[in-house]
Amino acid sequence: MQVYVKNESDMKDYGERIGRLLKGGECIELVGDVGAGKTTLTKGIANGLGITETVQSPTFSINRTYQARDGLRLHHYDFYRLNEAGIMAMELAESLSDPSIVSVIEWGDVVAPILQNDRIVITITSPDEASRLLDVQADGKAAAAITERVL
Ligand SMILES: Nc1ncnc2c1ncn2[C@@H]1O[C@H](COP(=O)(O)OP(=O)(O)OP(=O)(O)O)[C@@H](O)[C@H]1O
Ligand SMILES: [Mg+2]
Repeated sequence: MQVYVKNESDMKDYGERIGRLLKGGECIELVGDVGAGKTTLTKGIANGLGITETVQSPTFSINRTYQARDGLRLHHYDFYRLNEAGIMAMELAESLSDPSIVSVIEWGDVVAPILQNDRIVITITSPDEASRLLDVQADGKAAAAITERVL
């Protein structure tokens, strides 16, 4: 599915619509260049999960955790600075197997072997400064349950 967003606010809205549908246990991989809007989309997802805390890029910390609605948690990962996942791979594997955690991953190539197949992969490209094109793929049942319902 291709989704066109015309500006940053639209991007957050789209993320919020995804976030509202999440039930826990989902894995969302965000793919795109520096500045594509992965963290911006994550802020929207956080809104949809009822998170009021400000979501900041985890570039330096690798992982940030937020309390969400309905006893859920958002684990937001950014592996940009890691050449190998090391101990973070274990932490991520635990997140992925926890049904109360939604895992959002930026720069996930280094952890590709441990990402479950059943995940949402959103690839972001920038036709121009303000607009973005999102290619939204669901690779399994849990992922499709979200992407088929998001408007
Ligand atoms: N339609 C849009 N959607 C998202 N961000 C946009 C859009 N238009 C402009 N921007 C700007 O693009 C930048 C996106 O930054 P963001 O941190 O979300 O990117 P990122 O993909 O997470 O980058 P990084 O790989 O460095 O983590 C922000 O400065 C934002 O204001
Ligand atoms: Mg980012």
